Amino acid sequence: MRFQDRVVLITGAGSGIGRVIAQAFAGEGAAVAVTDIDEAAATETAAMTPGSFALRLDVTDAQAIRDVSAEIQDRHGPIDVLINNAMICSDTPFTEMSDEALLRELNVDLAGAMRLTRAVLPSMVAKGSGVIVNLSSVNGVQYFGQTVYSAAKAGLISFTRSIAAEYGRYGIRCNAVAPASIATPAWQRRIERNPSVLERLTQFYPLGRVGQSEDVADAVLFLASDQASWITGITLPVDGGPAGRQCVGGGARGRFQPPSLNS
Ligand SMILES: NC(=O)c1ccc[n+]([C@@H]2O[C@H](COP(=O)([O-])OP(=O)(O)OC[C@H]3O[C@@H](n4cnc5c(N)ncnc54)[C@H](O)[C@@H]3O)[C@@H](O)[C@H]2O)c1
Repeated sequence: MRFQDRVVLITGAGSGIGRVIAQAFAGEGAAVAVTDIDEAAATETAAMTPGSFALRLDVTDAQAIRDVSAEIQDRHGPIDVLINNAMICSDTPFTEMSDEALLRELNVDLAGAMRLTRAVLPSMVAKGSGVIVNLSSVNGVQYFGQTVYSAAKAGLISFTRSIAAEYGRYGIRCNAVAPASIATPAWQRRIERNPSVLERLTQFYPLGRVGQSEDVADAVLFLASDQASWITGITLPVDGGPAGRQCVGGGARGRFQPPSLNS
């Protein structure tokens, strides 16, 4: 029970990886705020996760973030762990994206994490402890397509380093994970176009499979736990192995679709 009585806020926890992270924290004793822009989805996660509670939260809404953070603090005490997980990812080719769509993607995927972090840091500083884990992606490290999403994910890696460097002196750690292909509802659109897309991608992974949300949750909980108490500022790949990393990074262009969320 690594998180007994700790207060955890997860964004985008109504689906996929966020939902499994919520269940994992709750299973280790945490009080988990399951937040999502989709209130029904958050409620569904909370209903299947004893020890959690659902709150609607749009990570682009700074006032709502302040209100939700204050509500959690009033009800459960200061937030010990923040998991920045919410995301959107457009299929529209870069040159066809409207200004609005482009800014929306950066707003959710990068600025959203910044807003949440900004909201929780003061109470973490006051308490002298706190942990933040950001969901980046292999797309933030190498080219796999999806220009705007990838830039946001690369930005998260830099943001992670900055917060780690600036707030380490207050007992606050900030790390990121960079998953490759993880079977979640985010893949649904492409599975509808190509039902065997995930099976096809297994060939690029040394460990012979794509990832599951549990693989990411395990890494996130490790980084959030006291077992990682001297680890900060890193981005941990959760990607099925180095050969896959090189293969898809070096050989992707024009030959096959790479195994990221966005291929
Ligand atoms: N699935 C993959 O292959 C993969 C690979 C690398 C990284 N990731 C990262 O893991 C994280 C989770 O991905 P997933 O596959 O579980 O995605 P998902 O689409 O299943 O879940 C994303 C959640 O974010 C929520 N959301 C969207 N906009 C929001 C907003 N404005 N405010 C609050 N919530 C909002 C959605 O409602 C949804 O519940 C993301 O950060 C993603 O970039 C996923």
